[in-house]
Amino acid sequence: MRKPFVAGNWKMNTDSHSSVSLARDVAAGMSEIAGHKIDVAVIPPFVYLQSVARTLSASSIAVGAQDVYTEQQGAFTGEISGSMLKDIGCTYALCGHSERRHVIGETDELINKKVSAAISGGLLPILCVGELLEQRKTEVTKEVVTRQIRAGLAGLGDEKVSAVTVAYEPVWAIGTGLTATTKQAQEAHRLIRKLLSEMYDEQLADDIRILYGGSVKPDNAAELMGQQDVDGLLVGGASLDADDFVAIVKGAV
Ligand code: 13P
Repeated sequence: MRKPFVAGNWKMNTDSHSSVSLARDVAAGMSEIAGHKIDVAVIPPFVYLQSVARTLSASSIAVGAQDVYTEQQGAFTGEISGSMLKDIGCTYALCGHSERRHVIGETDELINKKVSAAISGGLLPILCVGELLEQRKTEVTKEVVTRQIRAGLAGLGDEKVSAVTVAYEPVWAIGTGLTATTKQAQEAHRLIRKLLSEMYDEQLADDIRILYGGSVKPDNAAELMGQQDVDGLLVGGASLDADDFVAIVKGAV
């Protein structure tokens, strides 16, 4: 049985004050679902990670980073390593978020190194995959997602892969208000799970959590979570509002 997992990706939003108050408000809201089996994480910008982690230290909410570098230390100006993130209280790291793929230009190869480095640094990577609108229209979603998963997990054995969460985020649904239909989400998640079962053993593929992301809101969270292979949600915009994020988490339990 896969434990539900809801994470809020704050992207490049909040400031030193609002990041802490948002974390505090989310933690307060979680008291209403105390006792439910669910993993919840917030993913603030790097510079606010430490203060948010401190704010949440007495709560059950984990903290994640939006990115991670491929090495643990050394002459890599401007980069942040998995072991540094672990050191300040991070549990998760996003790898290959669509904005890093399509705005910054990260390749599958680089993302694969980041997934591996996140695990070496003691973090649990969340590998993000998803097709562009043009790719969905030309019916190559399967090929795109298959390539992203195979390349993103290349070289990782069973033990390392069991640390990974996959997030399916169709790019056309991110920040657009267009959510994948439950059927589209389930189809993509089923495809990913089938692929994982070809790459690893059946049990492992069955245990890996696959989150859906792309315009998740309080009013569509429960419906998405009702799909057999949707194990959780990766929330962008709505995670910046504590009430909305808490409502989404409630919809996922
Ligand atoms: P939105 O929820 O704002 O569409 O963002 C989704 C996302 O990119 C989460 O990582």
